[in-house]
Amino acid sequence: MISKRKTKKRGGGSAKMSRLDPPASTTSPSRRFEDVLPCTVRDWLNSRRLDEDHFEEYRQRMSRHRLDVFRSAVGLPCLLVALTGASLAAERPLPRLIADHGRHALLVDDAPYLVLGAQANNSSGWPAVLPEVWPAMEFIHANTAEIPVYWEQFEPEPGKYDPSAVDALLAGARSHHLHLILLWFGTWKNGSQHYMPAWMKLQPERYFHVVDAAGRPLDSPSPFAADSLAADTRAFTALMAHLRAADPERTVVMVQVENEAGTWGTLRDHSPEANRLFNGAVPPDVLTAMGVAAPASASPTWEQAFGAEAEVFFHAWSVARYIGHVAAAGKAVYPLPLFANAALRAILTPGAPGTYQAGGPLDNVIPIWKVCAPALDMVCPDNYETNPAAYLKFCELYHRDDNALYLPETGGSPRLLFYALGQQAIGFSPFGIDFTRTHEFPDVARPPEDRLPPWALTGTREFAAPFVPLYRLLAPMGRTIARLNFEGRIQAVAEQAGRITDDLHFGPWDATIAYGVWARNGHPAGNPQPLGGALVAQLAENQFLVAGFYCRADFRPLASGRHRQFLSVEEGTFVNDTFTFRRILNGDQTDGGLDFSSEPLVLRVSLATY
Ligand code: DGJ
Repeated sequence: MISKRKTKKRGGGSAKMSRLDPPASTTSPSRRFEDVLPCTVRDWLNSRRLDEDHFEEYRQRMSRHRLDVFRSAVGLPCLLVALTGASLAAERPLPRLIADHGRHALLVDDAPYLVLGAQANNSSGWPAVLPEVWPAMEFIHANTAEIPVYWEQFEPEPGKYDPSAVDALLAGARSHHLHLILLWFGTWKNGSQHYMPAWMKLQPERYFHVVDAAGRPLDSPSPFAADSLAADTRAFTALMAHLRAADPERTVVMVQVENEAGTWGTLRDHSPEANRLFNGAVPPDVLTAMGVAAPASASPTWEQAFGAEAEVFFHAWSVARYIGHVAAAGKAVYPLPLFANAALRAILTPGAPGTYQAGGPLDNVIPIWKVCAPALDMVCPDNYETNPAAYLKFCELYHRDDNALYLPETGGSPRLLFYALGQQAIGFSPFGIDFTRTHEFPDVARPPEDRLPPWALTGTREFAAPFVPLYRLLAPMGRTIARLNFEGRIQAVAEQAGRITDDLHFGPWDATIAYGVWARNGHPAGNPQPLGGALVAQLAENQFLVAGFYCRADFRPLASGRHRQFLSVEEGTFVNDTFTFRRILNGDQTDGGLDFSSEPLVLRVSLATY
């Protein structure tokens, strides 16, 4: 096996939880959101506050500007095409991802946007079911609904596309003031081909499956089935073309291409074409991406280059190329941000190949996906980890210079979402949020939760409820959080069992988040169950925004012999991303530090020393 060169992780510049450069410093990599925008946008933002009223004026201005450019550059024929089915007056800027110094932002209406998402259950994207989805989105305070589009519904007959379900999603989301992230359940859904239309399922010799080493077909589509690739490419392109025409409002802000692609039951496809390629040379760009040092003249095979991981790396290459092709075709007609999601492997103790789903954008093959599927803006972890250390690890691994962190699926404890925010996430979406199971019978005995499939637990008010306080806190300040994160000003932590404090470092100030301080008269003891979490943003050298649950926050100056004093602790509410002062907290409310309980609470804290 050829040795792997030790390469610096491409995301090495990503903000670590321990240290934040002082935003005001001239040497700081921390630039304001405005600094990386084109001049026209920057001038505008410099003269305006980031609030909704001004955004509306700004949007209209940009719409007029784009129309002028469009007219002069593209001309009347294309203008007529663009006008089909859509009013240009209502057209908004395209959502897009931007990056600067390893930090990322999703721009919606040309300003950073935090996806406070919620994913409906797999079979909830049908028009007749949507009335049970929207109230759950409202209940949880989501700003974005993640809902599948089913290939079997979208293309009931070859080449005949039915956008009625997509149109129902657009209409419903708009009337509930939500954005959408559509999930294209195409060739792959959880490693299988279950969402292929019936006319494809009935021709398995043409739209063939992966075969294992013994030649047996598995319940997984082959990434070498050329006709499947062609059909998926056409269908996904038709979907994107429909969105371009039907969604000038940009209700849809991103699209997920396939769902948890990959295969269980074999490490790779063993079809003739797959075998031929597996026994051939690894493409040079894959070697480079994976940091394999091979002499320029050498053309190692997969086994020579990657040893025991050769087959899973090969399968990742095969699947990434396929999805990269589908994504590129869709993006060519409508360039929305696109991503693929991964069914993860155990990260703290990764098992051998075969113990996890092969082929998807797992942590060990992210560079392969990056070179083979450049039309995907992100590869994303479906982070269901309940172990906080593992949850954090996944956030760190997928937050890279070349990859924004987004959690298209998550579950477990809402406090762990603070880890995602601390790793600069552009958003997250708990899975299974709808009210499709409205009838809970609390008195009826049921099996313990670990004996039930996940979908038997989702789809109720009770299931969504734990996320409500966090979403209520973040919803009115989502754009502020996204902007501050893009500027590198935020650190966030979650309580772990056995760890009673977390320390954060902000230039001249250290902040301590302590858990369970009342158990021992002001000394931290940890909460009986780990429920705490906090977010601290440095607004200016001596001014912070602090929010959290079940914890106490306090600050300490680094200067020796100096002590912290509060100049003011302002309690406020965010209204449309503007901090609105309510009162100053003092006395009992601040003498021991800044206390956070179950209530959503945001404090603007100004510090001095004596
Ligand atoms: C991960 C998948 O991506 C989802 O579509 C769903 O099947 C959940 N697992 C489990 O219910």
